[in-house]
Amino acid sequence: MAYIAPSILNSDFRYLGKTIEMLNRSDADWIHVDVMDGVFVPNISFGFPILKALKEDSEKPLDVHLMIQNPGNYIDTFKAFGADRLTVHYEACTHIHRVIQQINKAGMKAGVALNPGTPIYLLDDLLHSIDQVLLMSVNPGFGGQEFLPNTLKKTAQMSERIAEARRPILTVIDGGVDESNCQELVQAGAHVLVAGSFVFQSSDPLLSISALKKKSTHSLGYLS
Ligand code: DX5
Ligand code: ZN
Repeated sequence: MAYIAPSILNSDFRYLGKTIEMLNRSDADWIHVDVMDGVFVPNISFGFPILKALKEDSEKPLDVHLMIQNPGNYIDTFKAFGADRLTVHYEACTHIHRVIQQINKAGMKAGVALNPGTPIYLLDDLLHSIDQVLLMSVNPGFGGQEFLPNTLKKTAQMSERIAEARRPILTVIDGGVDESNCQELVQAGAHVLVAGSFVFQSSDPLLSISALKKKSTHSLGYLS
């Protein structure tokens, strides 16, 4: 059974408290939090005050996805404001290995994200020190984009490399995930599915999360 991580990016921020209360009651495993700086991606989302508010009410781990340039400057601050899992982009770091060390040292689970145009072999020398890999299945910056089918091949390749590394690294898929592609993704080796518009543009987000969770079944080794 894959983990489901709803992304609040496209939720209605007038009702943030209600959204978190709904997610607490839902089948969601994590809450996915997209932070954008307007430099690494052509969009600005939100930062520390929202993260702090989420942390106060959330009963689920906060999976923070940083789409910001030079994230190494802010690792301890993200920890202080409530991140449980912190993912940085390979493309946004000059010294990616050092940034992962910082995340580990701060006591968070460490993730590295790859844009659709970035090949997975670049992660080879990092697999020993990370907990998750996030494969972008759209170009980062916006919710509601169409899933890029090439991600399926990348997910399968990632799965092989994780098996070779013999470490319980989670493969997270982010962008355009819905009921039509979740099964294929899980069969290809995805462990965590991030879903934004599929959940928050639906008339019944609770039901959409449950539907995704139910459909994303496959025997996954280290996920029960
Ligand atoms: C995009 C973000 C995603 C986004 C997913 O840059 O990283 O997490 O919110 O939204 P959907 O599921 O609508 O593609
Ligand atoms: Zn994301």
